[in-house]
Amino acid sequence: MQFSIPLLLSTLFAAITTAQNVANTPPFTPTIPIEPFRVNIPLAKITEMNTLIRLGKLPPPTYEGTNRSLGISSEWMRQAKDQWANRFSWREFESRVNRILPQYIATVTSNKGDKFKLHYAGIFSEDKNAVPLLLVHGWPGSYMEFMDVVEILRKSTNPSYHIIIPSHIGYGFSSPPPIDRDFTLWEDASLINDLMKGLGFEDTGYIVQAGDIGHWTARMLTHYPGCKGILLNFFVPGNLSEPTPLGDLTNLTPEEIAGLQRSAKFSATGSGYAIQQGTRPSTIAHSLHASPLSLLSWLGEKFLDSMEIQPSIQAVLEFASTYWLTETYATCIWMYRQLFIGPDHGDLWAQMQIQKPFGVAQFPREIANFPRSWMEEYGDLVWFKRHEAGGHWPMVEHPDWLAEDIREFTREVWV
Ligand SMILES: *[C@@H]1O[C@H](CO)[C@@H](O)[C@H](O)[C@H]1NC(C)=O
Ligand SMILES: *[C@@H]1O[C@H](CO)[C@@H](O)[C@H](O)[C@H]1NC(C)=O
Repeated sequence: MQFSIPLLLSTLFAAITTAQNVANTPPFTPTIPIEPFRVNIPLAKITEMNTLIRLGKLPPPTYEGTNRSLGISSEWMRQAKDQWANRFSWREFESRVNRILPQYIATVTSNKGDKFKLHYAGIFSEDKNAVPLLLVHGWPGSYMEFMDVVEILRKSTNPSYHIIIPSHIGYGFSSPPPIDRDFTLWEDASLINDLMKGLGFEDTGYIVQAGDIGHWTARMLTHYPGCKGILLNFFVPGNLSEPTPLGDLTNLTPEEIAGLQRSAKFSATGSGYAIQQGTRPSTIAHSLHASPLSLLSWLGEKFLDSMEIQPSIQAVLEFASTYWLTETYATCIWMYRQLFIGPDHGDLWAQMQIQKPFGVAQFPREIANFPRSWMEEYGDLVWFKRHEAGGHWPMVEHPDWLAEDIREFTREVWV
């Protein structure tokens, strides 16, 4: 075998990068069982996905398929199918994820006595005074959505960070929820707090950044002593079963009114998926588990609708492939039952009260935005910023802004 100079250099570089990962030592000795983890999907599964994509059928042309207000576009699906079948490399994506995100599987025991495997990415600083930062994803997100933010924050000093990114129960490489009883966001949040505790971050404290469904997890985490503050890029006040109120708008700014109008539009025309996932989850799970193209249309529509700048087909395929290859669509939609169907929400509303200082970074093309004064009803809002652009996925759309928001918020709440 012959080596060229560039190849030698890149081998050397890879060795240095690996060495950095080896030095990725948590600051405390964990008190829960932890195993290192790398994504390595069996080849047979990747081949099977590709076969199913090739065999999968697309519907005949329809009026609905040409009007983006009526769902995913037929033309986008045609191009995405072609790219997925012929020019998509899962292995390339997988190795990027493994390179950027050192990962682990922890075993945590819920207060109901069940043991769960909780998968997480952990990027530990060598600075002993680094701030523990928990990043929580939503649906249809994944721990991988934070890769760009990690690349920025791992270089941050003053403050530097220990970054922990868990996969919720039912997502990615974490355990599915139990099959003999229902599961709640409150229990999921308590397992995530147990992870932080098990890593030694209860005494130091930790801060949380989250949006989407993760923002409810973050609010619940404020009920634990370890959590010192939460920075949200999405916030929903009140009762999700009720249409967004458009009451007295007299004291609101034009931006706030526009945010409420977007919220009302989302409730009226964009939230069908949530009602389906909340009311007949088993039916939609069987529908989407049968075909990668079915899954792609359901998840893809969400990404395309909720980002301000259209994501590349490649980016959407990475997310869809992750859900397909981990076989987690059916196990991850348990959250919707509790959130989107009333009236029996149990203690949910009490659990959503924010018990620690919080911050909100608002992006104008978010699916739903609410006035600052409404958010202040839920706790101590100590930091607020309204950005000029961006949608529902700032960690993907504007990772540099979100990273800067995290640094500003940290200075506000971390003493
Ligand atoms: C697309 O559908 C929406 C919702 O029904 C409708 O308001 C709009 O006029 C349609 N656009 C076109 C170009 O047909
Ligand atoms: C939420 O709204 C629904 C529908 O209006 C209502 O039946 C339910 O009681 C409300 N729940 C709470 C906790 O306010």
